[in-house]
Amino acid sequence: IKNVDKINEASTENSVLKEMGLWITQGKTVALPTETVYGLGASAVCTEAVRAIFEAKNRPPDNPLIAHIADRAQLDTLGVTWTESMEKLMDAFWPGPLTLIFPLTAETPLSPLVTAGLSTVAVRIPEHEVARAVLKHAGVPIAAPSANRSGSPSPTTADHVYSDLHGKIDAVIDGGPCGYGVESTVVDCTAEICWILRPGGVTKEQIEQVLGPGTVRYSQSASSEEAPAAPGMKYRHYSPATSLYLMKGSEEIWQRKLRAFQEEGKKVAVLAVEENKSAWKQADAFLSLGSRRAPEETAAKLYAVLRELDTMEVDAAFCEVFSKEGIGTALMNRLEKAASSE
Ligand code: TXA
Ligand code: MG
Repeated sequence: IKNVDKINEASTENSVLKEMGLWITQGKTVALPTETVYGLGASAVCTEAVRAIFEAKNRPPDNPLIAHIADRAQLDTLGVTWTESMEKLMDAFWPGPLTLIFPLTAETPLSPLVTAGLSTVAVRIPEHEVARAVLKHAGVPIAAPSANRSGSPSPTTADHVYSDLHGKIDAVIDGGPCGYGVESTVVDCTAEICWILRPGGVTKEQIEQVLGPGTVRYSQSASSEEAPAAPGMKYRHYSPATSLYLMKGSEEIWQRKLRAFQEEGKKVAVLAVEENKSAWKQADAFLSLGSRRAPEETAAKLYAVLRELDTMEVDAAFCEVFSKEGIGTALMNRLEKAASSE
């Protein structure tokens, strides 16, 4: 692996980013920062390159990838069609953490591996300067799933990428920690109703402000464990190796469970907001999820905390729950997938 040094986000004319764009056109795999999480990028028009992504991540081949583009003009090269409401969402949220599902035409240059054989493709324009510079220099759409091993928490730093994919990819560009920390919102607006297939950086409330109240719904897969509309949602995701329990119900119940675990000789870590730290003095470890008043901060550090949990000598972890509004919906979606299904 070529581990590229930390790159200043301001210097998008940086020669390393030019080289990385070239590497993409040559079929190499390059992990790069976006405003959501780090992505593992490769040319979306080169089947061998896309295959290398699936192999490095050990990703099931029926789980399609997001095609990232540099700007709206590049949409015209993808062989896709779109609706008026999609146009409104692109105007409002691109570049940024919104992924839209587009119907494909027969003229698409995209590798069929990107779409896993579906008749639609997921597309977004990232906002992160480093991602945009590499896209610009590459000149081709870049297929990029989150740059983690399939099943582990998504990477929000270059170190996370390195520890998961070291030896399996060609490069990682270090652009510092990601701002959002949860993935993009995946939205299917190809029909009358706008379906959120995966909650993420752009909230339902924000989308409704653009399309009008009552026009946006969460699909089953976004809100529960049922049949997935986004194929990726059916896999166990974001999971730490340590058993994770969500503290639904009263604090008293969980204080009692803590004592019960400890009486059995088990060590327990508590993941909670700073404000609740003093309530969990009896826990064997405490990992802070930021402030109750700043859910964006909690989202930004969630995956790093789940990874840190796995470095600790504990048998289980109890995690605080959050109200499902705004970014809280994405937070709870990830936590429910990370939690042990007991
Ligand atoms: O923020 C993000 O979206 C990050 C950064 C790197 O851009 N990428 C990311 O990719 O999270 P990935 O592959 O980890 O998640 C893509 C999600 C999966 O749940 C996948 O099933 C869904 O998008 N998806 C992709 N193509 C689709 C399609 N044609 N129809 C429905 N869902 C699709
Ligand atoms: Mg992923």
